[in-house]
Amino acid sequence: MTRFDPLIAHAADVKNRRIMDLFEVEDRAADFSATFGDFLFDYSKTAIDPEARQMLLDLAETCDVAGKREAMFSGVKINETENRAVLHTAWRNPDASILVDGVDVMPALRETLARMQVFAEEVRSGAFTGQGARITDVVNIGIGGSDLGPAMATLALAPYHDGPRCHFVSNVDGAHIHDTLAGLDPQTTLVIVASKTFTTVETMTNAETARRWMAGRVADPAAQFAAISTATDRTAAFGIPDSRVFGFEDWVGGRYSVWSPIGLSLMIAVGPANFAEFHAGGAAMDRHFRETPFAQNLPVLLALVGIWHNQVLGHATRAVLPYDQRLARLPAYLQQLEMESNGKRVSMDGADLPYDSGPVVWGEPGTNGQHAFYQLIHQGTRIVPCEFMIAAEGHEPDLDHQHLLLAANCLAQSEALLRGRSLDEAREMMRKKGLSGAELDRQARHRVFPGNRPSTTLLYRKLTPFALGAIIALYEHRVFVEGVILGINSFDQWGVELGKELAVALAPVLEGQSDGAGKDGSTRALAERFRALRG
Ligand code: F6P
Repeated sequence: MTRFDPLIAHAADVKNRRIMDLFEVEDRAADFSATFGDFLFDYSKTAIDPEARQMLLDLAETCDVAGKREAMFSGVKINETENRAVLHTAWRNPDASILVDGVDVMPALRETLARMQVFAEEVRSGAFTGQGARITDVVNIGIGGSDLGPAMATLALAPYHDGPRCHFVSNVDGAHIHDTLAGLDPQTTLVIVASKTFTTVETMTNAETARRWMAGRVADPAAQFAAISTATDRTAAFGIPDSRVFGFEDWVGGRYSVWSPIGLSLMIAVGPANFAEFHAGGAAMDRHFRETPFAQNLPVLLALVGIWHNQVLGHATRAVLPYDQRLARLPAYLQQLEMESNGKRVSMDGADLPYDSGPVVWGEPGTNGQHAFYQLIHQGTRIVPCEFMIAAEGHEPDLDHQHLLLAANCLAQSEALLRGRSLDEAREMMRKKGLSGAELDRQARHRVFPGNRPSTTLLYRKLTPFALGAIIALYEHRVFVEGVILGINSFDQWGVELGKELAVALAPVLEGQSDGAGKDGSTRALAERFRALRG
């Protein structure tokens, strides 16, 4: 017996009912949607009926989402496996007062935020010159949360980008940093080494490469570097002066860190005022999350829809489909946020999880995905719940006709998923094309869309810094609520450790300094072949 069994039983009872049938009630679209400012979250195109919704809301109450939410916001060490508070929300609420271990952590945060603003303005205005020349390019070196957040948000806010060009290097593949630095002038490039721990192999390797690149070309390489980390002793050892080091505390998780100094490259790109708007959007979503009854609470509803699709109906993946080219990196960002947070196989107390953990999250912006993988979403044998996102307005008034086309595609896709096309309709189409008999039947079957496939839509006015902040905070809190209901720790990431350790041990095998004794046969054979191919 698990906490999801009553919901699973209810879903089985109504499994022959189609989502479309639920719209026989006139106000379903209004009833199964919720608002936050100019955001509308529509979950009416799911199989959730009033009874299921009530059961899901009750589940959120039983699991004490409200109590755990307040514990998170107030600095309780809810990340129990690392004995840490979870306070990324503090960065977007800098005027708050929050105690960790009895100490108000906010004055230090405010001081760092003020230093970031001054530095960002100096870089943007040309007052900061490194070797003596104005900075034209910023290279952020980081990986995971130290890359995906600023990279995703800088692209998302391109219409507000009036600072130096920003580049993001993450992969330890030398091709990444090589190709990025190739077009840059070291005299006018600022390198930001972004690493919470300042030990991550990929980031430190790329940082060394950037330093060597600088060293051959400028008199004082250190003058072109800044660092962001919780480990200020290590930044000093790397040779970056404290005046250009922006620290933060270990209660900000990597995948939740875009609000912290990890967002410095974004702040340099769009300016402190727009960054403050980004913060304000996140803070507004925080207030909505804390103050709104669950039945109208966007993060709670998004989480409950996720639980319904994954743990109740057994759909193992969900697609995030922003109809916004500038949100092209959002699916990758959410992949880390959701899968690193809720991809856990044991509950808080260490017992095996008796149900599935969080889902596989993937996606691409529309309309591109329509010409790639939507075929499977419409006609494949697996159900992929889809999460559509669309702004009412684009940033290009002279291309508004294209925005309308984009929006029409977004709405058309969720409509098609819902209603499908019946065999009768497909047969009629084929008849009109002049087919008959067995060939008509055969061709018609390929043109049937089963429909009854679930989706949600998040509609907002425009992708402003405020809106982006609210969207990111919405998804963060969604992950939190799902994690609470699953009974897991959403804030550690032990699952990334083993691969890192084995990579360190494998390097000498690939170099031929060790024979790989103790490795499995496949890994040994691959290493041997790798060495042979290198000659
Ligand atoms: O992949 C594990 C991880 O620790 C992520 O959680 C984190 O975002 C990333 O590595 C980068 O870590 P750091 O900022 O310490 O370099």
